[in-house]
Amino acid sequence: MKLNTINIAHGWMCQYLKAGDLCIDATAGRGHDTVFLCELVGDTGRVLAFDIQEEAVNSTKFLLKEKGLKAEVYLESHTHMDHYVKPETVDGIVFNFGYLPGGDHSMSTKADTSKLAIEKGLVLLKRHGVMSLCIYHGGDTGFEEKEVLMTYLKSLDAKAYTVAVCELYNKPNHPPLAVLIQKH
Ligand SMILES: C[S@@+](CC[C@H](N)C(=O)[O-])C[C@H]1O[C@@H](n2cnc3c(N)ncnc32)[C@H](O)[C@@H]1O
Repeated sequence: MKLNTINIAHGWMCQYLKAGDLCIDATAGRGHDTVFLCELVGDTGRVLAFDIQEEAVNSTKFLLKEKGLKAEVYLESHTHMDHYVKPETVDGIVFNFGYLPGGDHSMSTKADTSKLAIEKGLVLLKRHGVMSLCIYHGGDTGFEEKEVLMTYLKSLDAKAYTVAVCELYNKPNHPPLAVLIQKH
């Protein structure tokens, strides 16, 4: 398997999540992370997926159908995911920031809403629950979102959370970051 940021994040999540868990894909996009979570939690688990673009919601539903999997896919901002699940009930949350591959780059995730969604996600996580983030920067994406998120993550109380960051260290042009957060 190719070593890339998404595979690093998935590998981490695999270590913590299991059949029957409740998970959220906070940026559904083309549905690959939703499918990954559905396969991890199995028939006894529950996956919710959010995206603000109809194209992403349709792509995700299509991929799920193709794979014979079920998830609740909502045309909704991840800043509202707290309207769908109760605090401290979620086992895992996946964020893959940036823009819809092959889609509208202007509809990419934004620093302020991404930070708010992470804050809300941390409230939703159970004790020992995990959140993964794939953070892109440079190019079309710019640097603001990464800077805001990394500053926020650094400020998280070390007694309440552990934050691990992994960078593709020798890659040129601002390689993306994989981040794993565990709630204590
Ligand atoms: C890099 S893509 C996600 C890739 C996806 N996880 C996959 O497996 O294909 C980022 C997605 O975030 C979505 N997005 C942007 N702002 C959002 C928001 N406030 N709430 C939910 N999704 C958002 C975009 O529409 C885009 O589809």
